[in-house]
Amino acid sequence: MSNPSQDIIVFGATSFVGQILCQYLFDEFKLSSSLRWAMAGRSLDKLEQLRRSLGSGAENVSLVVANSADEAELRLMVAQARVVISTVGPYALYGELLIKVCAETGTDYCDLTGEAQWIRLMIERYEVSARLSGARIVNCCGFDSIPSDLGVFFLQQESLRRFGVPCTQINMRVRSMRGAISGGTAASLLNVIKEASENLQLRKELANPYSLCLSAQPVMNPGIKATVRQPNISSAQFDNKFKAWVAPFIMSGINTRIVHRSHFLNGYPYGLIFKYDEAVLTGRGWRGALLAFGTSIGLGVFVLASALKPLRIILQRFVLPKPGEGPTQIAQARGFFDLRFLGSTLSGENLQIKVTGDRDPGYGSTAKMLGQAAACLALEISPEMKAGGFWTPATIFGDSLIQRLKAKAGLRFELLP
Ligand SMILES: NC(=O)c1ccc[n+]([C@@H]2O[C@H](COP(=O)([O-])OP(=O)(O)OC[C@H]3O[C@@H](n4cnc5c(N)ncnc54)[C@H](OP(=O)(O)O)[C@@H]3O)[C@@H](O)[C@H]2O)c1
Repeated sequence: MSNPSQDIIVFGATSFVGQILCQYLFDEFKLSSSLRWAMAGRSLDKLEQLRRSLGSGAENVSLVVANSADEAELRLMVAQARVVISTVGPYALYGELLIKVCAETGTDYCDLTGEAQWIRLMIERYEVSARLSGARIVNCCGFDSIPSDLGVFFLQQESLRRFGVPCTQINMRVRSMRGAISGGTAASLLNVIKEASENLQLRKELANPYSLCLSAQPVMNPGIKATVRQPNISSAQFDNKFKAWVAPFIMSGINTRIVHRSHFLNGYPYGLIFKYDEAVLTGRGWRGALLAFGTSIGLGVFVLASALKPLRIILQRFVLPKPGEGPTQIAQARGFFDLRFLGSTLSGENLQIKVTGDRDPGYGSTAKMLGQAAACLALEISPEMKAGGFWTPATIFGDSLIQRLKAKAGLRFELLP
């Protein structure tokens, strides 16, 4: 690869989450030589407006105009970067050409997609080029799925240290969380449900916890595949381990797939019987039960409504945020998340950790996680350490990103007594 002028280019800088990310990069790195970064998008006017809003000194941030449907523009943009971050979503609609260009040109890439069916397609289509060119492609670098993927990684490190063996079962429970969704996230969610409602094969694929365990980086046991039936919390139930009621967690669909892909890429170090699930804790007693049933029913109604075209249009027009909209800065600052991971070894030892964030999960925290993931890729993970291909956050970043997130992104990874 030639010597690019930027370490990171943020493509989709003017998106709701892109703007928060650019402000974070500016506050964190300014325009220092330690990390050179630039902003890209399809509209020069909007990029200039965003640059003016960042604060004094930002006038020197470089701007690149590119449209996600224009391969020549994407190639020109990608040639200027070591790592491209994309926040142009829904990725299933706008993301493929950029992945293709990065995979072919050996440019590293991070994004925020949570669209498992699209990730599978991209791995099938571009992993060979990425391996050949040396491009490291890392999807899911936001709230889905960094806390889950790195939470499992962190817990397993602790388990090995304490017990000498990994946990064969981990249950992740959202203990508490405050945040809201943006127009881009709503559009991505509706697009997945729409595609699935029209395609039986896709519904089967989305129900398969191992759907992303394919065409791996070198696997230690080629040919061996985990097939153990995975737990799946799809309705309200009482959780005996946490002694509380739980409801389904909307992000578990992508998070569990990424955790299993990490396990697969590493050659199944936790054993072929490893089980992982996610749910939301709603509390004890009748209040907890009521909340668990209410959440389950609400989620079911939302999925059903999104699958039916007339109701989907009503949701888009009148209920959900529009593209570019999302939680206010105050709401982001008041937001937080607290995730608990309970691990059990085969011989019955237990270990609990928590992963917390100091901003709303989807935007304030996600922007910081994405920025630090890309910085980690640009500054710390050399091609000699990790070769080209489709990676997960835990398999490519591991402890390096945990340290960055703790030091610079308001996340904590803690072992509980
Ligand atoms: N994993 C997570 O935890 C997480 C968290 C937050 C968001 N997300 C995902 O991140 C994505 C962005 O969300 P958001 O709410 O920030 O979205 P948004 O505000 O709707 O922004 C979408 C962006 O895409 C750009 N765009 C659309 N078509 C384009 C084209 N043809 N060429 C170039 N740019 C184009 C838009 O450009 P303009 O600005 O010029 O209109 C805009 O910047 C979504 O897919 C969402 O699901 C994931």
